[in-house]
Amino acid sequence: MKLRQLLLAALVLAAFLLTGAAGAATPARPGKAAIAAAHPQAIAAGEEALAAGGNAFDAAVAVSAALAVAEPNASGLGGGGFWLLHVARDARDVLVDGRETAPAAATAGMYLDAAGNVIPGASLDGPLAAGIPGEPAALVHIARRYGRLPLARSLAPAIRLAEEGIAIDAGLQAGLRFRRKAMEKSPAMMAVFCPDGELPAIGARLRQPDLALTLRRLASGGFDGFYRGPTAAALVEGVRAGGGIWSAADLAGYQVIEREPVRASYRGVQIVSAPLPSAGGIGLVDMLNILSGWDLGRFDGATRKHLIIESMRRAYRDRSAWLGDPAFSAVPVAQLLSPFYAAGQRASIRLDRATPSELLPAARTDGSEGNDTTHFSILDAEGNRVAGTLSINTWYGAAFMPPGTGVILNNEMDDFTVKPGTGNAYELQGATANAIAPGKRMLSSMTPTFLESSRGLAILGTPGGSRIITMVLLATLDWIDGHDAHSMTALRRYHHQFLPDVVTYEPGAFSDEEIRALEAMGHRLKASGRDYGNMNVVTWDYASGKVEAAGDPRREGEALVY
Ligand code: DON
Repeated sequence: MKLRQLLLAALVLAAFLLTGAAGAATPARPGKAAIAAAHPQAIAAGEEALAAGGNAFDAAVAVSAALAVAEPNASGLGGGGFWLLHVARDARDVLVDGRETAPAAATAGMYLDAAGNVIPGASLDGPLAAGIPGEPAALVHIARRYGRLPLARSLAPAIRLAEEGIAIDAGLQAGLRFRRKAMEKSPAMMAVFCPDGELPAIGARLRQPDLALTLRRLASGGFDGFYRGPTAAALVEGVRAGGGIWSAADLAGYQVIEREPVRASYRGVQIVSAPLPSAGGIGLVDMLNILSGWDLGRFDGATRKHLIIESMRRAYRDRSAWLGDPAFSAVPVAQLLSPFYAAGQRASIRLDRATPSELLPAARTDGSEGNDTTHFSILDAEGNRVAGTLSINTWYGAAFMPPGTGVILNNEMDDFTVKPGTGNAYELQGATANAIAPGKRMLSSMTPTFLESSRGLAILGTPGGSRIITMVLLATLDWIDGHDAHSMTALRRYHHQFLPDVVTYEPGAFSDEEIRALEAMGHRLKASGRDYGNMNVVTWDYASGKVEAAGDPRREGEALVY
């Protein structure tokens, strides 16, 4: 894992002119643009959109599409995501929900055998694991409603990349090795990613001509270019031939939903984050509400971390008990976001003891982190912002490509509760609120977030499955403590998700003394053995006017101030 931080400063004149015009203590516009994303080619695509006169939203379309090509293990046209937008002109935030939906033929027990046991791999490998993709529809929506450039202009860099090829890097190769067995059941995917039946060498050129064609159809036909017509037909045919259950009506009926983000304030900082069907915003705000009862700075390191862990435990308990697609289950969102509710949760936390998860009320529900999923953050010179977290779920999603499409299908169906009381790929458990039902969106942890205070703003998010929300929490606390984008991404991470009742931590997250103190309080600690997450952050400091962008030093993340 190497650090590849690029910080390119350019167009200083434009910056000077724009900030000069603003001139106030809280500037109206940053005058500079910045992009932090998981692949240099995606940043270049976003930069190209900005240089063509596009805004942050055009750049977000260009970055998303380029990531689909250059980081195909993580997100893509066969998946979905959440794009949190801030429209500077209207001072408005909106979440574009392009999450996948369960096909109409999906049923609650579809991954269980006759005895009611989970069929291993059924919700993870092959086309039966795939929800109806939302990313193509979301890109069309964002370009049409918020962008300035034609969709085809923003998709052009991705199409070029797919045609000309990208270089296989170590991450792509490792993911292919990991998913090889599942992938072997998909000849179309093998032909692209393992030509001659061999894993491609690092540095080999990966060309994706079918994906280029699918992108071209999207560029010219918009929604119908993907969800109807030849691409849709090839998707449905390939899925059904491989044992999946999609229908043409599932694709034609897919709908992007615009949602009000979750909002809260913590110590003078406004938090704007992802609402349901992501657990992210609710989890983040619940944890902050719990923590707001203490001045964390006055505690020693071990106690401070203990309290943060206890807040994680309680927010993830609520996730498993309550959260799911709000169109299908009555979720007590107002209660979960309420400081009064958090005060009750806080009252059950002892300063000196870990709470065993099994002792929390209603602990019984009724019923390996990798380089997958991706997050980018964008700020443009006018102050428009995008925090986008996109996913096909685990490495290379379902490891299945319907022939002729170049589209890798997601395995996001595993984010539903396949069986109450049984953990998913991230060991998350859930209840009926997140049971499978036709047309329903599976619960997510993706947490694209904006933070804003008198100091400035931060745009952040990360992949990492169930650990996403706690990573965003730790980075949020770090920013509130006055640290910068580089510190937020580099910060050592720790995580608790209620069940299993264990604190997972990255090397270096706790000192030896803290480990001893936390264990003495009753915490079970488990070293993750490796780093996790891939956070990309953009910040803007109002007093200095400084715009910073930072990619995660654990990965290939890049950052550009433009
Ligand atoms: O939506 C979710 O919560 C998951 N599908 C995200 C998966 C993920 O972040 C994988 N990355 N390591």
